[in-house]
Amino acid sequence: MGGGRKTQCVFPLTFWFLLRVGIETSCDETAAAVVEDNRRIRSSLVLSQENEHRPFGGVVPEIAARSHLHHIDRLVRGALESAEVSFADLDGVAATGGPGLIGGVIVGIMTAKAIAAVRDIPFVAVNHLEGHALTVRLTHDLAFPYLLLLVSGGHCQILVVEGVGHYRRLGTTLDDAAGEAFDKVAKMLGLGYPGGPALERAAYGGDPTRFALPRPMKGRAGCDFSFSGLKTAVRQILSTLEGPVPVADLAASFQAAVADVLMDRTRRALALFRAHWPTGHALVVAGGVAANAFLRERLDALAQAEKLAFLAPPLRLCTDNAAMIAWAGVERLRIGSHDGLDFKPRPRWPLDPDASKGVRTSS
Ligand code: KG4
Ligand code: ZN
Repeated sequence: MGGGRKTQCVFPLTFWFLLRVGIETSCDETAAAVVEDNRRIRSSLVLSQENEHRPFGGVVPEIAARSHLHHIDRLVRGALESAEVSFADLDGVAATGGPGLIGGVIVGIMTAKAIAAVRDIPFVAVNHLEGHALTVRLTHDLAFPYLLLLVSGGHCQILVVEGVGHYRRLGTTLDDAAGEAFDKVAKMLGLGYPGGPALERAAYGGDPTRFALPRPMKGRAGCDFSFSGLKTAVRQILSTLEGPVPVADLAASFQAAVADVLMDRTRRALALFRAHWPTGHALVVAGGVAANAFLRERLDALAQAEKLAFLAPPLRLCTDNAAMIAWAGVERLRIGSHDGLDFKPRPRWPLDPDASKGVRTSS
């Protein structure tokens, strides 16, 4: 292992910490970060490819991969510089190994492997979802287990986080992810890309009751989600409307419908969580959609009503970033888990591989 850093204080006490660099390239953000194992983020750089994908109204995998390749070296160097460390100071390197767009994942993994090989430090291939799932332990002093609503552009799941590498999926989307639905509806409303934040802004001041949109899966058994019907309902409304589109009202109605569904499913998951994981006391939200203020308020109210703590990472750590990947590396290395340089990037990589075999605690 490389050299950990030492902080000396006036008393004969010495605090050691280890430095991990993280790399994230699984979608349309190239990111690099340096994190200490004592939870301090020394640097976190995120380079968005928004402008490159905007003309196409969504992420183009080929463009994303080329852009990651073009920027990754500079970004890693930038993260080290702003953390005021050099490659020689690093004690470990972590990169997203999947799931995600494979071209981008390969770029990040190859970069991390090269650093690990040259510096002779451990390499961790992090599951991107695990990065989101553990972020709250970087920002808060939270013990396992906790209930996690993971809502991003590619995933919509409710999980019990039992420990590092131990996830029990209680529910998942049957079709679109929540962020994907935000993005598609934003596109229909002409709000551009990326859609989630644009739709949230458009919904301010809109009337959420003006359009009676469906609440797919609400009241159903289990904790699964479905959002494609909601998206279709918005399309149908748009096709029958005459005159200017009431964008704010439609955006507010859509956002309220998504939030209602997420609340209903989360409420059911909370009941299971309380029954089967009695030591747990926190509801956590993570992933890009967790940046949505309307949703955070509703989840906070739900947690309060259930007498649970509600924890959400700051906005910059909800959307894709590399600090969460470096942190997942810290957590994995702490339990003695790392990967060989023969690790193969994984376009698909479920957090709970048993979930599809029906090992569920749903009612
Ligand atoms: O976690 P993330 O950055 O990338 C994935 O792993 O997918 O999530 C991106 C998703 C996008 O669909 C984006 O539209 C959505 O998160 N998002 C939001 C907001 N900010 C980002 N959705 C709703 N409201 C927001 N404020
Ligand atoms: Zn993500």
